[in-house]
Amino acid sequence: MYRTHTCGELRISDVNTSVTLAGWVQRSRKMGGMTFVDLRDRYGITQLVFNEEVNAALCEEANKLGREFVIQITGTVNERSNKNANIPTGDIEIIVSTLKVLNASITPPFTIEDNTDGGDDIRMKYRYLDLRRNSVRANLELRHKMTIEVRSYLDKLNFLEVETPVLVGSTPEGARDFVVPSRMNQGQFYALPQSPQTLKQLLMVSGFDRYFQIVKCFRDEDLRADRQPEFTQIDCEMSFVEQEDVLNIFEGLSKHLFKSLLNIEISEPFQRMSWHDAMKYYGSDKPDLRFGMQFVELMDVLKGHGFPVFDGAAYIGGICAEGAASYTRKQLDALTDFVKRPQIGAKGMVYARVEADGTVKSSVDKFYTQEVLQQMKAAFNAKPGDLILILSGDDAMKTRKQLNELRLEVGSQLGLRDKRKFACLWVVDFPLFEWDDESGRYMAVHHPFTSPKPEDIHLLESDPGAVRANAYDMVINGVEVGGGSIRIFDSELQAQMFKLLGFTPERAQEQFGFLMNAFKYGAPPHGGLAYGLDRFVSLFAGLDSIRDCIAFPKNNSGRDVMLDAPSVLDQSQLDELSLIVDVKE
Ligand code: AMO
Repeated sequence: MYRTHTCGELRISDVNTSVTLAGWVQRSRKMGGMTFVDLRDRYGITQLVFNEEVNAALCEEANKLGREFVIQITGTVNERSNKNANIPTGDIEIIVSTLKVLNASITPPFTIEDNTDGGDDIRMKYRYLDLRRNSVRANLELRHKMTIEVRSYLDKLNFLEVETPVLVGSTPEGARDFVVPSRMNQGQFYALPQSPQTLKQLLMVSGFDRYFQIVKCFRDEDLRADRQPEFTQIDCEMSFVEQEDVLNIFEGLSKHLFKSLLNIEISEPFQRMSWHDAMKYYGSDKPDLRFGMQFVELMDVLKGHGFPVFDGAAYIGGICAEGAASYTRKQLDALTDFVKRPQIGAKGMVYARVEADGTVKSSVDKFYTQEVLQQMKAAFNAKPGDLILILSGDDAMKTRKQLNELRLEVGSQLGLRDKRKFACLWVVDFPLFEWDDESGRYMAVHHPFTSPKPEDIHLLESDPGAVRANAYDMVINGVEVGGGSIRIFDSELQAQMFKLLGFTPERAQEQFGFLMNAFKYGAPPHGGLAYGLDRFVSLFAGLDSIRDCIAFPKNNSGRDVMLDAPSVLDQSQLDELSLIVDVKE
């Protein structure tokens, strides 16, 4: 037997017990005739003690142990004289009687401790060592618990977990596909699924009225802190449901996860906001509602007073930061630079402080009388000590998005985005289509299988941009954690949808004929949603990047630096697949 206990298990009640432990040497220190070794495993750290006076040879062996050696010891549990309140095993130590080195370790490239000296790149290259650290390991444990809770919650509600294939056909909608050449079908390619969307809909046609799957999805898109090329969805679909049924079930699941994993009770229903209001008041389809600072439109108040920037603008809007009038000129200049960065693209920022006596002092005082500035103050309901920040532009949507960035930045600066606080929201009534300048056509906001709101169907041909969808996103703290919709289940409406998206009938048939045909065999009304598991775990763990809750993530260029993937293929492999590689410099 390698061990009788783990390194996180022994307590004061175990004193005088003989034990065998195995684990990694975290560190060792020599103090006079004593050597102390911290022995670590997944469960914790236990202090080992070697006494030169009692067993000089054994102590000599202990002094040779290096960091990350794997050892096995036997010994007796002893009450510590110097207790360590920071660790659960801190009341005890092991007086070691035998020591066996199971495996040595070369010097690790970074210290394997909570505060490591290893940079991102080196930790990614040696991810198996990084995973020995508490923080990363704890994230994976949380992830494990979340999947267990999801499975048991959905199982109790009669959801059936069904696996769908990973080698599927390529579809033109959405992000780019990762493709896999087929040896047995020369010149043809599979694609890895961006999500099991059509397959889960087919399962509804098959009569599996409650499906879920914790499933890997693959998207070849630009990476960000909350995006990986392969990520995991909690993918769900239900038959005979309306939007309200889906929202209720999955709000219930989210609340259960908050309670079971974080012990946070969310008793009130999640707030609901239409996409239109989200854009109007927050400039984002995923507003962070941990703090206020709703946008206030100022066209009526500030236009037509001779300030050329505002007079020529299609949109003028601002936010009011409570108690932030103490912002210095330097801080305000830095905020101006922030919104002027190319990624945000604002032309400038106007600010106004509400002074202690209630008067308003702004950066554009020469264009506005105090009377007008007071009207502006009233529009924000601002009080003495508040700071008003204003952006304008000739495209309302673009300017709102810039104001969203400013709002989030100011919220962060004022400490209003506390990671231990959670604000949950359903954004509903998304538009069905958005116009894409690049391809000169409408694109589906969610995906082409989303149903229009019945009351808007008459606008499909005449004004597609005005059609609202039965689609919803779950947003927590400004992160889109999940999204879904009620689906089209009528083959003719589905065909019309493809036509509006610019498909010829032939191409629609070729790409999605299987789905439209299936709908002819008695497809039930259905709808669903998918959560991003990685995003959910990251939120719960307070992480800045979803990478930290994925065992072996890719870096920002989509590389696995540990496996050195992707990599080139041998010529023989290429030949077998009839592939010619022609990389343009
Ligand atoms: P959607 O594309 O909105 O919907 O994806 C659902 C959720 O998956 C997560 N997600 C990602 N997480 C990490 N990295 C990525 N690259 C990434 N892309 C998406 C997000 C998102 O909310 N089939 C539909 C769902 C449905 O309609 O039922 C779908 O995939 O948290």
